[in-house]
Amino acid sequence: MTQRILFVCLGNICRSPSAHAVLRTLRPDWQIDSAGTSDWHVGEAPYAPMQAAARARGLGMDDLRARQFEAADFDRFDLILAMDADNLMRLQSMRPEGDKTQVHLFTDFADGPADHVPDPYYTRDFDGCLDLVETCAKGLIARIG
Ligand code: 4NP
Repeated sequence: MTQRILFVCLGNICRSPSAHAVLRTLRPDWQIDSAGTSDWHVGEAPYAPMQAAARARGLGMDDLRARQFEAADFDRFDLILAMDADNLMRLQSMRPEGDKTQVHLFTDFADGPADHVPDPYYTRDFDGCLDLVETCAKGLIARIG
């Protein structure tokens, strides 16, 4: 079954584009997208240090452009995965009455190493972010793929 999955973080320039790039590489047959709950970086490419860390492990994301999450995304995706509790709460607050889209934390699929994906824009740990995103991505595929 083709999965339609949206990854959501705050800026859509670090964590969610990383997950977007990892998942579309592992499962090119799925429909993958990413968005931010803020409009701070709309139209921008992923953050340069994030792109550099990804490129170093053969992962391309320079074609991605930030966009803001919108309520219509609940109709476009089967599964919406947030990078942390703040972004999950923002998604839940925008959710239309009666909507049945699955909305979870991405780390729910990783069997325990973390309860959120720390924001490398602040931690500066871009490699650690990619490691955790890859672990969660593999866990996700093992569960639903
Ligand atoms: P992201 O990281 O949510 O993983 O894209 C951030 C990027 C930029 C900012 C915050 C978080 N910012 O404050 O501009």
